[in-house]
Amino acid sequence: MRTLSVTVNSMDFGAPSEPSGGAHTCRRASVLCAVPTMTDYTPTLSELHRADGPLRVLLLENIHHSAVDLLKNEGFDVDAVSGALKEDELCARIASAHLVGIRSKTQLTQRVLSAAPGLLGVGCFCIGTNQVDLKAANALGVPVFNAPFSNTRSVAELIVAEVVALARQLGDRSREVHAGQWRKVSQGCFEVRGKTLGIVGYGHIGSQVGVLAEALGLRVLFFDVATKLPMGNNHAVTSLEELMSKSDFVTLHVPATPQTHEMIGEREIAYMRKGTYLLNASRGTVVVIPALAQALASGQLAGAAVDVYPEEPESNSDGFVSALRGLSNVILTPHIGGSTVEAQASIGVEVGSSLLKYVRNGATTGAVNFPQIEMPPSSGTHRVLNVHRNVPGVLRDINNIVSELGANIASQVLSTDAAIGYLVMDIEKDVAQSVAQAIAALTTDIRTRVLY
Ligand SMILES: NC(=O)c1ccc[n+]([C@@H]2O[C@H](COP(=O)([O-])OP(=O)(O)OC[C@H]3O[C@@H](n4cnc5c(N)ncnc54)[C@H](O)[C@@H]3O)[C@@H](O)[C@H]2O)c1
Repeated sequence: MRTLSVTVNSMDFGAPSEPSGGAHTCRRASVLCAVPTMTDYTPTLSELHRADGPLRVLLLENIHHSAVDLLKNEGFDVDAVSGALKEDELCARIASAHLVGIRSKTQLTQRVLSAAPGLLGVGCFCIGTNQVDLKAANALGVPVFNAPFSNTRSVAELIVAEVVALARQLGDRSREVHAGQWRKVSQGCFEVRGKTLGIVGYGHIGSQVGVLAEALGLRVLFFDVATKLPMGNNHAVTSLEELMSKSDFVTLHVPATPQTHEMIGEREIAYMRKGTYLLNASRGTVVVIPALAQALASGQLAGAAVDVYPEEPESNSDGFVSALRGLSNVILTPHIGGSTVEAQASIGVEVGSSLLKYVRNGATTGAVNFPQIEMPPSSGTHRVLNVHRNVPGVLRDINNIVSELGANIASQVLSTDAAIGYLVMDIEKDVAQSVAQAIAALTTDIRTRVLY
């Protein structure tokens, strides 16, 4: 990624214009933005979108009210839907949206993204983003934000609880007592103190699990493809095989990537010692479920805790089918690792704030598919945002336009990835609309708008 930042004073391109008041309107990709023409001016969101009414936000999958409140308080028109939508219905509902918020069930395919010509940004109110066609969003000039940290602790606490629950066969005992059976046994039940926990993927969640597990007296090993600083007395090992063969509990905390797809199958489970335990609260595609079911049925594994599945029901009213159902000492949970009140509230604020910062200032910090820029808001200027195809000469063309129109560039930041360039530019003369229109006419243009 390349980032270029230029700040020049008014001597370079001519003096700023006098304040004139009022607002102009520019239209690009069906989005209307009011362009205030006062030079010493702090924009508010209501002014940014007053030309064609409030910005429209579509929130799916019961996103926490912290996000709904945040966006409504900014004057946005928020349409909050409780479940995920199928592709055809989604295409219809998203058509007029400027922002869309989803969790893990909604698939934002290229077709869906293309059905929303005015879409400015996408918020994934979760950690994973593989439910979005990130490449298509990038090509359309749409940044995608997520919440990488908000539910880390919730998942880590669940895993630690499940390690104890598996060691004590807690799920089975509870089910038996509920059914009126009194089976007081100690056979096959253990303390976790002194046992070894192996963590695959030592990122945000994995490293938190390592910290909490040590407090319970577990010895912690981890394996990660990246070099990671061990927390506390956690210890890195150099291969998956070493980790799995040395651990009493193996817990998976890797992202869904081509490399992690079915990374734990028959061969890998065979690395584990007889009577050990496997936990997966990462992504369903990481584990080959028939291989896990077979290992549990044969007694190779003494138990498992699974929160994520290759195929998950779309809503709470759909049934769940899995070869893991009914097996002894297997804790099955419906993808609730990050589902706590605390996590949902903080995800709402984290992603909602990222969307607001983008709409307000053009800031893309934290976007998973987009060049990152965070330029402080300035007064006395107009801010132009431009997304273009990353080919040589674009910056020269844009600067020629600004120069020919007699505007002064107060600040300019360009950041690029392999496919696109993202340019944020503050200009000091009341020609923002003309500049934006001329830039939008370049063959390299993907999306240009005047923010204020
Ligand atoms: N169950 C839930 O409700 C829930 C909630 C939150 C997150 N998650 C999932 O948990 C997983 C981890 O989240 P995180 O925030 O810790 O992610 P992270 O990106 O912080 O950490 C992932 C780690 O895995 C490592 N890694 C990648 N490929 C690997 C491989 N092939 N072998 C070993 N290590 C590898 C990375 O280097 C990184 O350190 C993600 O898949 C996320 O979707 C699930």
